[in-house]
Amino acid sequence: MAVSAPLPPLSAAESEHSERLVARIHAEIEAGEGWISFARFMEMALYEPGLGYYSAGATKFGAAGDFVTAPEISPLFSRCLARQCADVLRTLGSGSLLEVGAGSGTMAADMLNELEALDALPDRYLILEVSAELRERQLATIAASAARHARRVEWLDALPRKFSGVIVANEVLDAIPVERFSIRSSAVNALGVTWQLNRLDWSETRAQGELLQAVRAIEEELGSPFPEGYSSEVNLRVRPWIKSLARALSAGVMLFIDYGLPRRQYYRPERAAGTLLCHFRHRYHDDPFVAVGLQDIGAWVDFTAVAEAAVESRLEVAGFTTQAHFLMGLGIDRQLVQVGERELVDRISIARQAMLLTLPGEMGERFKVLGLARGVNTPLAGFALRDLAASL
Ligand SMILES: C[S@@+](CC[C@H](N)C(=O)[O-])C[C@H]1O[C@@H](n2cnc3c(N)ncnc32)[C@H](O)[C@@H]1O
Repeated sequence: MAVSAPLPPLSAAESEHSERLVARIHAEIEAGEGWISFARFMEMALYEPGLGYYSAGATKFGAAGDFVTAPEISPLFSRCLARQCADVLRTLGSGSLLEVGAGSGTMAADMLNELEALDALPDRYLILEVSAELRERQLATIAASAARHARRVEWLDALPRKFSGVIVANEVLDAIPVERFSIRSSAVNALGVTWQLNRLDWSETRAQGELLQAVRAIEEELGSPFPEGYSSEVNLRVRPWIKSLARALSAGVMLFIDYGLPRRQYYRPERAAGTLLCHFRHRYHDDPFVAVGLQDIGAWVDFTAVAEAAVESRLEVAGFTTQAHFLMGLGIDRQLVQVGERELVDRISIARQAMLLTLPGEMGERFKVLGLARGVNTPLAGFALRDLAASL
């Protein structure tokens, strides 16, 4: 993948920050006999305490940051999602919301305000966030934009033992560290990270264990081996993660929104260099070894893997669709009119926001929504217009 535009230079403070994190990764490589897996590198680059991209103080979201997520683009997104949550909470009779990876806190504030307008406030709004820095930011956003609901909001250090309600996670699956692999002489190589010529670099070794099994299982399912030189990603952590969420959910729905594809499309021959996506100041590229700790690193989501883990945990797939169809099923068009009337906002800018969320060339098709359910048998409005679950 080409760089979308040349990356801007780093300030002295940014360079120093990045060098400290690279030194820590280098030490880990040395301790690991010259090699660490890509998932371990990605984990350190994003979450190393005090230095990783999500753990340290980079702006991250919005115009002044590195990328823009749907709730940052427009409150329309969170309002539609809140409508879906309100329907589920009514079906259950009561319940709470659990947001995983709440970013700046914008979605939490907008959802709480909309749920109040719908007379469907949850018992509690729980947030599970791995980044201490983002927790502080979420607290400030909720205090500024949804102060009257602040007493309902609670930050968790771990999943609750029992939870009834709706779990939502926007752009969290793509931030779970992935393994990378490459096909060489018909064998599967693990693409890991080494230290060479004074910098981080790719290094290959024969894949073993879980990674080897996962790649061979994908080939078997696709009905043919990957071609020579084919490289891609496999997320080995997503299965235990979904299983732990499933264990916590006694009744309710989980909604995952992210860029991704069903497995058959994910591992198409033409996607031969994988799906790794790095963001730095609104430039995107696929080199994870630049601006380490200062740029986001993500990988497209294999939604079939998520659905499989869910079914193994006795959850039902409640629906799978594009972000555009999900938002349209929840009445984004009606929201558009109401927002204009309610807040007298500039109609052109709010219409533009709706287009960014729904147009196929923007977020509309690249982003998908997967719904998983336990004990909720009523159809979900977000999947009513178009359900692609059969493609998983
Ligand atoms: C790309 S950001 C998305 C933020 C927000 N949901 C949004 O849409 O703007 C990824 C978020 O997931 C969080 N995260 C990643 N892995 C997580 C995990 N295992 N548990 C909880 N939060 C996690 C990160 O700290 C960050 O807040």
